[in-house]
Amino acid sequence: MSLKKVTVVGAGNVGAEAANQILSRELANVVLIDKFGDLAKGKALDILTSASLKGSSSNIIGSDDYSMTADSDIVIITAGLPRKPGMSREELVEANGKIISEIAQNIKVFSPNAIIIMVTNPLDVMTYLAYKVSGFAQSKVMGMAGVLDTVRFKTFIAEELGVTAKDVNAMVLGGHGDEMVPLVDCATVSGIPLTQLMDMDAIERIIERTKNGGAEVVSLLKTGSAYYAPAASVVEMAESIIKNKKSILPVSVYLNGEYGINDIYLGVPAILGKNGIEKVIEFKPGATDLKNLQNSGKVVKETIDKLEKTLSISK
Ligand code: LAC
Repeated sequence: MSLKKVTVVGAGNVGAEAANQILSRELANVVLIDKFGDLAKGKALDILTSASLKGSSSNIIGSDDYSMTADSDIVIITAGLPRKPGMSREELVEANGKIISEIAQNIKVFSPNAIIIMVTNPLDVMTYLAYKVSGFAQSKVMGMAGVLDTVRFKTFIAEELGVTAKDVNAMVLGGHGDEMVPLVDCATVSGIPLTQLMDMDAIERIIERTKNGGAEVVSLLKTGSAYYAPAASVVEMAESIIKNKKSILPVSVYLNGEYGINDIYLGVPAILGKNGIEKVIEFKPGATDLKNLQNSGKVVKETIDKLEKTLSISK
């Protein structure tokens, strides 16, 4: 079977690392696009020459020309500005909104059947924008954030308990912002409820650290934001689609009344397979978690409204 075609838009740290991981794992052939074409070409060449050492026969090219991306199966969008220390993700909405609009229009023209995975912040709002501008089906436009927030939650739990994060089963729902919702009731370690392994003080501390996980990296790096974990997270989603694995992952999806929320993108569990979002899973979270999820949705909605004032998005 021939390899799928994945376009990664944005040859910055997240985009280049995602391309590198896709190539290393021979998941697809990759087109790396950046408005600075030489940056994309240079990174693509560097990644390509590493492929055979990793046992991969995948190909990668870099370009600033969208015609190279034609008929992509998946388009991962990472382009845009990252946060600076002290900034919220929402503060990026105007600048990144313009960039994402243009990219979504190009995807619509060159890859009308693609599945779009958004990575650019503010995540849930940029995913909504790509959905509106592309006009693609809801099942084909999604955002990566829950996988990243979840893996941070799992890692911090594992670190506290001195166990491997692989044994931790947990999920973070909601928007990719300060109001994200790490689910304590659903968290287990090798099947043991987290609440029986740790006291509430420790759990609260871990929840706070999870919510600030991105900002903690931003403040340490001084310039730019996290990229290894974000890239690994988006590749996890792409892999489930490419291999039709049907993993249940927390994904930013369009909500049609699930969890009492309408007409926004927000992180909830979904099954990912060859058609993109195969199913949005609606379960019954505890009353507080549900309230927090809805509150997180309100913050996303406010940012969408702000964006709609600056860009004209058809409703
Ligand atoms: C983070 C940024 C990328 O959470 O949103 O690291």
